[in-house]
Amino acid sequence: MSIKRIGLLTSGGDAPGMNPAIRGVVRMATALGVEVMGIERGYRGLMEGEFHPLRIRDIGGILGRGGTLLQSARTEEFKTEAGRRDALHHLNKADIDGLIIIGGDGTHHGAFALAQMNYPVVTIPSTIDNDLCYTDITLGVDTVLNTVLDAIDKIRDTASSHQRAFLVETMGRNSGYLALMAGIAGGAEVILIPEAPMTLEQIVEAIQAQYALGKPHSLIVVAEGYKPGTMAVYEYLREREKELGFTVRMTILGHIQRGGHPTAFERILATRFAVAAVEHLVAGKHGVMVGLIDDKIQATPLAQVVGCHKGADLNLYKLAQTLEYARAPK
Ligand code: F6P
Repeated sequence: MSIKRIGLLTSGGDAPGMNPAIRGVVRMATALGVEVMGIERGYRGLMEGEFHPLRIRDIGGILGRGGTLLQSARTEEFKTEAGRRDALHHLNKADIDGLIIIGGDGTHHGAFALAQMNYPVVTIPSTIDNDLCYTDITLGVDTVLNTVLDAIDKIRDTASSHQRAFLVETMGRNSGYLALMAGIAGGAEVILIPEAPMTLEQIVEAIQAQYALGKPHSLIVVAEGYKPGTMAVYEYLREREKELGFTVRMTILGHIQRGGHPTAFERILATRFAVAAVEHLVAGKHGVMVGLIDDKIQATPLAQVVGCHKGADLNLYKLAQTLEYARAPK
């Protein structure tokens, strides 16, 4: 079947890089003579038929903008067969021959379900959590890492000025990727991630070791998925403040991490993903996610992508620990 009109949607948590990907899809499709219909609010708009044409002039100025022009949503109803049938009804009515779907883990489950109903789908991995397999990096991660790093650098200034141990919580859902990478880039004294549990007592010891070294601060980067949770660690450390040497404070970075201008790396990656996604869909190679593997854009069947989760790299975690211990007295 030749593809004349495609639909495009963004779903799940927005991520910097979604807008440059939208732009790339519209430009590439237009270059190939294929029309693009923008679908508002992810799967919600798909089920409700909220479609409108997306032409070159509609995507002007979005290359450097965070968020998503098409808006996004988390939609429980799309998990039901009835919800997906509504979506297919609207797609057929609007003569849309295939879909490009931009999003993270939950979004991929929805995309796979559509593909299993024989609807042509190609996905672009986009989530700040970087927890999808078959791509070295997802859209949003590079920008968010830089945002977190900026926050860590600022917090270090105030932490050092007051001899404080500072907990800084990053997003990432169940993955410690963001916390680990930001911790390495920001020179954190302690990194707490779900993939490498540390007891509360071990955290106390690590902070005490930093104090004994004469450090003016101790920065502890915590992934939101770390158990028993940032607040529990904070309360425990506050109780033990006298033994730590440092006073203790906590900052939860929250949704500020998801906003902001996509970095140069992000814009280029988004553009590469977008071009590949359009090419695959138009060539009839659907039911796949495009990803970056060893700096090449490669497509992987959605059946493999769905249900495969990637966490933080434990070798990098060990590396971060080695660097910290190298500074500790023998
Ligand atoms: O999946 C992206 C993400 O930002 C996670 O890191 C975080 O746990 C979650 O979304 C927050 O979701 P919401 O924006 O719906 O509160």
